[in-house]
Amino acid sequence: MPALADHFSRDIAIVDGDGCYVTDRDGRRYIDFVAGWCVGTVGWKHHAVVTALKRQAEHGLFVPALFRYPAWEQFAKQLVDLAPGSRLQRAWRCTSGSEAIEFAIKCARAATGKKTIVSIDGVYHGHTYGAASVGDAMTPDMAPGVPGFMKLPLPNQYHGVDTGDVISRFEHLLRASHDVAAFLSEPVFTNAGVILPPSDFYPEIQRLCRQHGVLVMMDEVATGFGRCGALFASSLWGLEPDVLCLGKGMTGGYGTMGATLVSEEIFQRSKHIPQLSTFGWAAQDMAAAQAVIDVILRERLWENAHGLGMYLIDQLRALESRPYVGQVRNAGLLLGMEIVKDKSSKKPDPERAEKLAEDCARSGLLIETAGNVLFMSPPIHDVA
Ligand SMILES: Cc1ncc(COP(=O)(O)O)c(C=O)c1O
Repeated sequence: MPALADHFSRDIAIVDGDGCYVTDRDGRRYIDFVAGWCVGTVGWKHHAVVTALKRQAEHGLFVPALFRYPAWEQFAKQLVDLAPGSRLQRAWRCTSGSEAIEFAIKCARAATGKKTIVSIDGVYHGHTYGAASVGDAMTPDMAPGVPGFMKLPLPNQYHGVDTGDVISRFEHLLRASHDVAAFLSEPVFTNAGVILPPSDFYPEIQRLCRQHGVLVMMDEVATGFGRCGALFASSLWGLEPDVLCLGKGMTGGYGTMGATLVSEEIFQRSKHIPQLSTFGWAAQDMAAAQAVIDVILRERLWENAHGLGMYLIDQLRALESRPYVGQVRNAGLLLGMEIVKDKSSKKPDPERAEKLAEDCARSGLLIETAGNVLFMSPPIHDVA
């Protein structure tokens, strides 16, 4: 009987990676259009990252949060300088996207003295209790979740969910309640199936948040670090977050790091709450993250994501004539193909999506599914 608690994985045992390829234990090579699920940015075995990791390993160092580690300060400064807008001035250290979301929830409540966080229904924000409750990862047998979250419908033009309705619900809620601390969302709804909000959605949401003294918190765990054709996808919609959650692409898969960026005011009001994560920004992971971000900046990889995304979406559009392809969409190198029973009912067909992903794997291309959507997030480097 297997010892690993795993019920989810495909029967493909990956043992090596190189650029945008991975190899399984039988020596079979695949084009990797999953890239660790939005994790791989610079591709596998990138020489600059490997060199940085080897150099760091020779130091054999781990510094706990009781002390200072100069690289933390430098890296935090780099993150807040690169972050969208001008509000973000402090970076909390943590180990994952879920943890970054937990910090965001705690900061929002502590900084505002208000409790309610409004988020978008059907959006994944992580697996820990707070993140699962504010997102879509609560199951009935996990109940009770963390209280204090309210959900707005996901604006989805393809399935007829009108932006105007979502906005007016939010406005109504803000008028009715004085307890809303923050609005939390993703610039592109990644795991909901790569759904792009209409261009007027976030500007209006942000305007309402400012008007009602509600914090704008963006989850860029999946979309950050160039994936969507901009260094951070918030800037695609003119968003200037008060809180920004990061993870995944930060180390390009060579370490486990997350960060919650906040304004100085939020930091001052929330610094007393327990936010220590033992392994947050461990020296070895930091070396990877610094090397990865250097490559992203030096090679302007978000431009690569934009250009290659345009190329790929053109290829995928040619498949829209198939009766079961409902819509293809992308933001840079985050791509989705919605699989439906038929074009008129638009009824989701997750079984066919799963079968198509399996067929692709048999042909040497790894892609994932998000429900009935074929989900592609290749490395933003080395894809050609
Ligand atoms: C948008 C988003 N937020 C948060 C998370 C949680 O990140 P982690 O799995 O590193 O805890 C994920 C993970 O898939 C994600 O896609």
